[in-house]
Amino acid sequence: MAKDVIIACDFDSAEKTLAFLDLFKGKKPFVKIGMELFYAAGPDIVRAIKERGHKVFLDLKLHDIPNTVKKSMAVLSSLGADICNLHAAGTKAMMTAALEGLTRPDGTRPLLIAVTQLTSTDEEAMKRDLLIEKPMKEVVRHYAMNAKEAGLDGVVCSPLEAGEVHEACGKEFLTVTPGVRFADGDKGDQKRVMTPAEARKAGSDYIVVGRPITAAADPVAAYERCVKEFLEA
Ligand code: C5P
Repeated sequence: MAKDVIIACDFDSAEKTLAFLDLFKGKKPFVKIGMELFYAAGPDIVRAIKERGHKVFLDLKLHDIPNTVKKSMAVLSSLGADICNLHAAGTKAMMTAALEGLTRPDGTRPLLIAVTQLTSTDEEAMKRDLLIEKPMKEVVRHYAMNAKEAGLDGVVCSPLEAGEVHEACGKEFLTVTPGVRFADGDKGDQKRVMTPAEARKAGSDYIVVGRPITAAADPVAAYERCVKEFLEA
């Protein structure tokens, strides 16, 4: 089972992103490209980062009718992404179509993971806005099982839910978890956080870390600290 730290490169231009990655000299950290960077810099930023030798998690969280998602995933797959994602709320039919779209002519494909419930959504909002009456844990578990049954490789979830997901879907089913902070760091707008070591103990396979690295005075040192704490936990 791969365990790694993924840096959320939430920048608004290709120039800022590439200048940030230049700091790492010979190192090739796993990079997450989210909506902000993708919409600002376009598909070329994925190609550019791949050409530099990084693995790329393309965090675009697709959610549309199955045919549209299938065709869009084929485009993302052709860019060379290593991980793509979508919302499990799009249904099993959408997830199955996405997998078909991702599969390249040579039979390879990026890993595909599903967002269960966003960590910004709490039980109250689920009930009030989405008319979902069940407890969060049950909803996350059910969405993760749907993703597994559709053939996906894992989910994006809070580290607090990683153990529950592994229990329901097996230890090989990936848990990719944002909401990670150093014990002595600033939480920012993340409410429920864990340290890298706690996330590893809770069962996270990949942690996604943004500002604790990108906004650090020494981003390379912060990344190395994060890797050390996560992998040596
Ligand atoms: O800067 P920070 O470490 O909070 O960045 C976390 C990253 O993970 C951001 O890119 C954010 O969009 C993403 N994310 C999240 N919570 C989710 C899904 C994605 O924080 N539920």
